[in-house]
Amino acid sequence: MELCVALDLSTKKENLDLVKKIQNYDVWLKVGLRTYIRDGEDFLKDIKKINPDFKIFLDLKLYDIPNTMADAAESIMGLGVDMFNLHASAGKKAMITVMDRLQKYENRPIVLAVTALTSFSEDEFKDVYEKDILTKAEQFAKDAMDSGLDGVVCSAFESESIKGITSNEFMTLTPGIRPFGENSGDQQRVADIAFAKRALVDFIVVGRPIYQSDNPTEILEKILKQI
Ligand code: C5P
Repeated sequence: MELCVALDLSTKKENLDLVKKIQNYDVWLKVGLRTYIRDGEDFLKDIKKINPDFKIFLDLKLYDIPNTMADAAESIMGLGVDMFNLHASAGKKAMITVMDRLQKYENRPIVLAVTALTSFSEDEFKDVYEKDILTKAEQFAKDAMDSGLDGVVCSAFESESIKGITSNEFMTLTPGIRPFGENSGDQQRVADIAFAKRALVDFIVVGRPIYQSDNPTEILEKILKQI
């Protein structure tokens, strides 16, 4: 299991200060919407200047018509990131179009599909998707696998059954991890590291518990030790 640290701080400087603090640890970095919209490709270059070995997950959750998603995926190829994601609810045609477009690249990044956002409660999810989270997440995972993607974003609670209906090699990445019972914030379906391990999760994403801590490296070391 790998740790992916979410760089969701409110300024570029704060994010880069965090990257500098954790530059010697073997972790992935997650660059999400807020950071990428504000700081763009330069920010990715700044990370690589601090440590070129950092692996980057670009968490932009693409959702559009198939051709636009494939165009966007091709632009992402030029950024040199190691993983990106799109919404499974954009449909199989969109996922297949994206993967077809990336076929010509030898070293394409890992591509994951978002199933159910970890901020959804069951009721909120049903309002939008008209099914319970597990049923729909499994269906999205199957669609993603059939479309040639590498794995899904889900909560730790769906990871094991998704592996069961896809394969052990089909990756799961789970946000909503609260390593030591920290405040869950807007996340509804939170789990700790022991649970994520039992659920065969490949990547855990941790944001606030690390960057809001007075001592981020101490928390990070504790997490890595438990992993
Ligand atoms: O601060 P916290 O640990 O809750 O951060 C979780 C991160 O994972 C945030 O950057 C959020 O955007 C992202 N994420 C999520 N749920 C998903 C996909 C991504 O919380 N399904």
